[in-house]
Amino acid sequence: MNITIVGTGYVGLGTAIMLAYLGYQVTGLDSDEGKISSLKAGALPIYEPGLDDLLQAASPNLRWTTQYSDAIPDADFIFVCVGTPPLPDGHPNLQYLEGAVRSIAQHLDGKPQIIVNKSTVPIGTGDWVLRILEEHAALYATSHYEVVSNPEFLREGTALGDSLYPDRIVLGGSSWATGQMRTLYAPLIEQSFEAPAHVPRPRGYERPAVVETTLTSAEMIKYSANAFLALKISYANEIAGLCECVGADIHEVAAGIGLDHRIGTRFLAAGAGWGGSCFGKDTSALITTGQDYGYSMPILRAAMTVNERQRSLVIEKLQKHVRLLKGKRVAVLGMAFKPDTDDLRDAPAHDFILRLGRLGATAVAYDPVAMPRARREWTHLHYVEAVSASAALAGADAVIVATEWSEFRSLNWEEVLATMRGRVVIDARNIIREPLAAPAVLEQIGREQPQSAFLPASGLAAVKVGA
Ligand code: UDX
Repeated sequence: MNITIVGTGYVGLGTAIMLAYLGYQVTGLDSDEGKISSLKAGALPIYEPGLDDLLQAASPNLRWTTQYSDAIPDADFIFVCVGTPPLPDGHPNLQYLEGAVRSIAQHLDGKPQIIVNKSTVPIGTGDWVLRILEEHAALYATSHYEVVSNPEFLREGTALGDSLYPDRIVLGGSSWATGQMRTLYAPLIEQSFEAPAHVPRPRGYERPAVVETTLTSAEMIKYSANAFLALKISYANEIAGLCECVGADIHEVAAGIGLDHRIGTRFLAAGAGWGGSCFGKDTSALITTGQDYGYSMPILRAAMTVNERQRSLVIEKLQKHVRLLKGKRVAVLGMAFKPDTDDLRDAPAHDFILRLGRLGATAVAYDPVAMPRARREWTHLHYVEAVSASAALAGADAVIVATEWSEFRSLNWEEVLATMRGRVVIDARNIIREPLAAPAVLEQIGREQPQSAFLPASGLAAVKVGA
């Protein structure tokens, strides 16, 4: 079976490399010549742990091109993985998708071919794609094609594990087309492939559930899954705020509620709020889809509001201790929206640096992987680059932990605090487990500041009683 993947972003590349690893002949197509020539030279345009090694293993089955005429006629499956970035009004920009579908349509061969929508596309897109194909089919006298919606649930940073060992595979379309997709995915469904040494099968993992639905239901599943996860995090953040008011600890509370199987422990980590390319975009797309039908979605709106408030809260916590930020130096640890990726889309660090600049402070930023990308994409922001976490902290008045990279977890805080001018630590990802010795001040999300090692317990109690 021949497979073509249109679009070599996170989803397209991951899918192409994964399917080639499973043994299929895969052609990756992108209109960006720079991307394709670097892929031809074996270089990945994104950072994703382990993807390099899988690319090496799969490379005999992979080829790259910029030409639709070269990639479409022989393909049995054409995966559409182009970007659908948000427009200012919240609707997704479908220009790339439409362009890709029109180009595909011109080169369909007349033999049975399946067009698979893997991008997160607006609900109803599958039918729209079919209409575009029909227009062209009439024009070019092609015949047998079908459209399937096969949403992707992989997370950046853990993309390989998520693609090889998914919880479920969702297939929306006719029973013939979804049957073809089952055949294609048989190695995944049966878990009959040899697990790569660097992405071993998780303990206890058996096989994915296969969910067959209509086109529209599959599209709806993708959005509603992301929006649910987003609102679960916003819920944890809202409860974290109340924990601070009453003196409870969100770690204990989240663990306690998460152990109820109906709730689950994951995606309850309070912090700077969610970012990335999906949660904000998909949640607002669902709200605008509702609006298009005159239907309101107050729960999702609230999830967005809480997420925005979370980012302001981090700066407010800083201002509590450094009232006048003008002229101050504030270290920002982490720029990527989450660890193990260089993706900067909707990253909380972006907002922190922007707000610090407006308040007259100098942000000194460090990220283990995302700095070169930030140099290209954050040209509108003013910040100083540091070569390491400790260099960012040296001489700083305060620090914001914006991303929970593991190297920040293992920082020797006692040592780095001694190099700071002020010792205000805003740990917006709750990574610091031990109390910091006075005079350092530690602010976290949803937790009382751990008792200072230097204050006797009775002294603290007296302060509280008097307060
Ligand atoms: C998400 C979905 O998880 C994935 O299924 C979908 O295909 C794409 O969108 P991704 O954006 O790569 O994946 O990252 P994810 O790990 O889900 O994290 C999203 C955001 O939520 C990050 O900003 C992360 O920091 C934040 N988050 C996550 C929390 O704040 N708390 C949590 O408990 C979990």
